Amino acid sequence: GKVAVLFGGCSAERDVSLQSGQAVLEALRHSGVDAHPFDPGRKSLAALEDERFDRAYIALHGRFGEDGTVQGALELMRIPYTGSGVMASALAMDKWRTKLLWQAVGVESPRSMLLTVHSDFEKVAQVLGLPLIVKPVREGSTIGLSKIDHVRDIDAAYRLAAEHDALVLAEEYIAGTELTAAILGEMPLPLVRIEVAGGLYDYEAKYLSDKTRYFCPSGLPEDQAGLIQSQALLAYQAIGCEGWGRVDLILGEDGRFYFLEANTSPGMTSHSLVPMAAKAAGIDFEELVLQILSLSHV
Ligand code: DAL
Ligand code: MG
Repeated sequence: GKVAVLFGGCSAERDVSLQSGQAVLEALRHSGVDAHPFDPGRKSLAALEDERFDRAYIALHGRFGEDGTVQGALELMRIPYTGSGVMASALAMDKWRTKLLWQAVGVESPRSMLLTVHSDFEKVAQVLGLPLIVKPVREGSTIGLSKIDHVRDIDAAYRLAAEHDALVLAEEYIAGTELTAAILGEMPLPLVRIEVAGGLYDYEAKYLSDKTRYFCPSGLPEDQAGLIQSQALLAYQAIGCEGWGRVDLILGEDGRFYFLEANTSPGMTSHSLVPMAAKAAGIDFEELVLQILSLSHV
């Protein structure tokens, strides 16, 4: 059938999505799939029906793409699509409600508090300790995120985050090793360990720096990696994720793991983390894209 690769969009992560979509489009075409680019930031989704697409491959990131809205529109049009459904997409987009759910199923996450203009920032710093992280609740690629060392800087960090979302979260900073667990179907792929030159795995470290180093396999002891993978699968399943996804966490210096968030439409550029994990499992980029397509939500 005819496949629309949805990418671009109008979120703050548009640039990342353009890269993901291009890589996916090329891989699908290379595998002989009748794939076409479709940018919902430029064109109404209604055109999918008019142009008689049989399936949608979602390579959008962030709001209006990864958050359940596009998924809902596709449900109404009865067009099968890749990845998670409406509920899981919306829930995973919301880092605060994800934490509440994880708490209920015993998936540990850094302690956090919602911030408002009325918050007592001194108190927040007392409760969560310093440094701490301030971030928009529904955003991706660490856009609008700050690491705070002094109470006096919380206000500016709050304002920055609030430019991206009405909900802002302050979170305990966990010193340790950044890890990510990709999941394909219901199968955890090998963990990726990330080593960041500046300490914080932010937008710069993710997409611009050539100093960020990735290790897959992670180099962690096998039993520890296995434990993290099974917790990651629980975290993914608790949200109701389907098809594929990526769960991010930090292995703290205290030896515990702290889950940060789940991504229902992770980056798919040729140097992104899910393709890296798949490769370590013997699944090349084209095969990965085909498997994600075949796991479409009907
Ligand atoms: N939000 C970015 C695209 C990721 O999780 O890979
Ligand atoms: Mg994310």
